[in-house]
Amino acid sequence: MADTILAIDFGTSHSLVGALHDGQRIDDLAIDPFSHDPTLMRTLLYFPTPDQCFYGAEALKKYTEFEMEGRLFRSFKSHLPNKYYLGTVFENRILSLENMIGLFLLELKKRAEAVLKTHVTKAVIGRPARYSMDPVADEFAIHRMRKAAEYAGFTDVKFVPEPLAAALEFRRGIHQEKTILIGDFGGGTSDFTIMKITPNEFQKKDVLAVEGCPLAGDALDSVFMSSRLNRGFGAQTKYRLPMSNNLLTMPVSVMDRLNKPAQIVHLKERDTYEFIKEVRKCALRAEDKNAIDRLFIMLEDQQIFAFFEEIEKTKKDLSTRPTSVFKFDYPDLETNEVFSGVEFEDWSVKIKSEILSALDRCLSQAGLASSQIEHVFLTGGTAHVPFIQNEFIRRFGTEKMQTKKFFHSILSGLIESAKSWDELS
Ligand SMILES: Nc1ncnc2c1ncn2[C@@H]1O[C@H](COP(=O)(O)OP(=O)(O)OP(=O)(O)O)[C@@H](O)[C@H]1O
Ligand SMILES: [Mg+2]
Repeated sequence: MADTILAIDFGTSHSLVGALHDGQRIDDLAIDPFSHDPTLMRTLLYFPTPDQCFYGAEALKKYTEFEMEGRLFRSFKSHLPNKYYLGTVFENRILSLENMIGLFLLELKKRAEAVLKTHVTKAVIGRPARYSMDPVADEFAIHRMRKAAEYAGFTDVKFVPEPLAAALEFRRGIHQEKTILIGDFGGGTSDFTIMKITPNEFQKKDVLAVEGCPLAGDALDSVFMSSRLNRGFGAQTKYRLPMSNNLLTMPVSVMDRLNKPAQIVHLKERDTYEFIKEVRKCALRAEDKNAIDRLFIMLEDQQIFAFFEEIEKTKKDLSTRPTSVFKFDYPDLETNEVFSGVEFEDWSVKIKSEILSALDRCLSQAGLASSQIEHVFLTGGTAHVPFIQNEFIRRFGTEKMQTKKFFHSILSGLIESAKSWDELS
C-alpha cells in the first residue's frame, strides 16, 4: 500500500490540506468545491440540527438556506487553550470542543481521501508557536488537538509549529547561507521563526527561535466592535438591580461574547440571554433599553455572524484605502459608519504591541539583533494590514522584505516537513 501522509494547515479562519504520497508532494488538494478557491476551506461548522453538520463554504450556504436556524461555529480553534471552554450543548447533544475539531478534521480527511483515492491514517498538523502565553494552557491545547485527531481517525500524528513550516517553505527558494525571519499573521495567532538557512539538508539546530502570541486577525475585528459598534447594542448600559444602590455597567464577560468572533455563537446561551434580559429590565436610560432591544433582534434573527462578516470586510478594505464605510442594512439594525485606518491603528495599539513583544522575544531567544536578519518573509492574511507591514519595514528595511503567497506557505512547509517524518517530535 502507498505510504501517504496528510499535511493539514488547520487555521482559525481557513484550512488547507496537502499530502506526501510515496515521497511525492501533492500541493493544495481541492477540498472545498463551494469555495471561490477550492484549495482553501473556511474553518466553519454548521449544525442546523444536533444530528446534521455542514462544513466550509457549504456551511454558509446551508446556514442561509435554513434561515440561520441552529448553530454556526467559527474561530473555534482559538478556544483550544481555554480550560473553561469545554464546548457547548445544542439541544440534546453535547458538543465538546475536541468533537467539533475532530468532526472538522474527519471531514478534511474524508475529502482528501476521496481525491487521493487512498485511506490515510498519518498526518502532519500545524500548530501555532503558542496557543496561549501560559505554558500549561498551551500543553492543554495540544492535548485536545491530539484527541481531536484521534477522533478523526488519525493513528499517527505529528504537530509542527506553523511558523517553522513557513520557514521550511521559504528555505526552498534560497540556496546560500542566510538568517531569515518569518512572521505568520493569521486569524487567531501571530507567529515568528528565526532560522539559519544552509545549502545542506534541514537540521533541527538551524531553527534559532520560535515564538508567538494568540492575537491576530480576529482580535483586530474585535476592536471595531469594542471601540465603537458595540455601543449600539447596549455595551455601556448602566443599571441598578432591585433593592440595591450599586450602579452597575454591562459586564465585560457578557460583552466579550459580542466583541469576539469566537464567542458570538455563545451569546444565545440561556444564562447569558436571561442575564441580558435582566439588565434590560433594570437599565436606567431609555436609550440603553433600545440598544439592548437591538441586541435581541441581532440574536433572535441570527445576524451576528453576518455583522462580523461586514466588520471583516471593512477591516480588509482599510488595507488598501484610508477610510471605509461599514454598512449593515438589516431592518432595525441599520448601521452606517465610516472608519479610518488611523483610528483602526489607534484602537489596535495594544494588540500591535503584544505582537511585537513576541517578535522581540523571538530575536532575543535567537540572540540576534534586527540588523543580523537578512531576509524577512511575511505570510498569513493579517500580513496585509498596513500598520503590521510598516512596522517590519521600519525595523528591517524595505530591501529585506520578501512577500510570498499569503495563504499557502504554511501548508507547503508542512508537506515539506512530512519528508522528515521520523525526525519530527
Ligand atoms: N486584505 C486583508 N487585510 C487585512 N486582513 C486580512 C486580509 N485578508 C485576510 N485578512 C485576515 O486574515 C485572517 C485570516 O488569515 P489566515 O487564513 O492566514 O488565518 P488562519 O491560518 O486561518 O489562522 P491561524 O493561522 O491564526 O490559525 C483573517 O482574520 C482575515 O480577516
Ligand atoms: Mg495560519
